[in-house]
Amino acid sequence: MTPDLSVEIAGVKFKNPILTASGTCGYGEELADLFSLSHLGGIVTKSITVEPREGHPPPRTAEADSGMLNAIGLANVGVDRFIDEKLRFLEKHDTVVVVNVAGARLQDYIDVCARLDDCPRADMVELNFSCPNVDWGMEIAKSPTRAEQAVREINKVFSRPVIAKLSPNVSDISEIARACEAGGAAAVSLINTLVGMAVDIDTRRPRLTNNTGGLSGPAIKPVALAMIHQVYGSVKTPVIGIGGVMTWRDAVEFFLCGASAVQIGTALFVESDAPVKITAGLKKYLSRNKIRNISELVGKLRKY
Ligand SMILES: Cc1cc2nc3c(=O)[nH]c(=O)nc-3n(C[C@H](O)[C@H](O)[C@H](O)COP(=O)(O)O)c2cc1C
Repeated sequence: MTPDLSVEIAGVKFKNPILTASGTCGYGEELADLFSLSHLGGIVTKSITVEPREGHPPPRTAEADSGMLNAIGLANVGVDRFIDEKLRFLEKHDTVVVVNVAGARLQDYIDVCARLDDCPRADMVELNFSCPNVDWGMEIAKSPTRAEQAVREINKVFSRPVIAKLSPNVSDISEIARACEAGGAAAVSLINTLVGMAVDIDTRRPRLTNNTGGLSGPAIKPVALAMIHQVYGSVKTPVIGIGGVMTWRDAVEFFLCGASAVQIGTALFVESDAPVKITAGLKKYLSRNKIRNISELVGKLRKY
């Protein structure tokens, strides 16, 4: 029996449930030198803003125990160059293209998404409501009212599915997820990074110029699983899991907790073909356990 790894989220068909996470593979060009992007269920781009951004000065990444810290500050080419160059490259590949969008205010998200609506190969947008490394990043992420309004307004200008990416740096992530669902989010993705810090004891300075950064990798996996489990129980909209997925075993944990698909981020810095290996491992796991379709695992966590 050849197991079926394909999943459908908000009417979009993914050949497998393994996507890359925003900001960890740019716009896919470097990754395409290492393996064919058509192995991916989907590719999520770096956050795109209205204008190009330089981001924070280096150092903007640092190692942490079981993970890494980053404070890139949303460096990106801006929506015009993204559409002219980067999307043109991506649209040649047989994979779902999810464009991650960020902004300083709601109007910025609306402007970028309206431009992307004219580009049919921007299959979905993922709204980064959760960047902890820029001053304004948390405004929408923290307020259910603003999150709902933001998704509703963006849905008016972008005709394909909208994913809301949620921050773990809030007191009740389910409340925000429900608000995004009420605003019309086709799916929610979680989690973005947790706010963290590292200190150089010789220079007595923070290791990042931004002082704090976003913690990612295996260190955040237990937090991600708990939040996915919680959100899966509170919304009907599909959940996309992110946070410390390094192996196919991790991915299975995410599916059992309710994720319909997972995104791979920090793992790419360790092994750039991690998504290919994770997909192969999943396929074998399904065969071994006589599971026909990956969707049979979603939310199937057993109770004690
Ligand atoms: C270097 C780096 C840059 C990132 N940039 C973005 C970004 O631009 N937009 C975004 O929504 N998330 C960004 N993230 C967060 C990831 O997409 C992901 O949510 C997070 O790293 C947790 O997944 P992981 O543990 O698999 O890396 C970034 C993460 C890293 C490590």
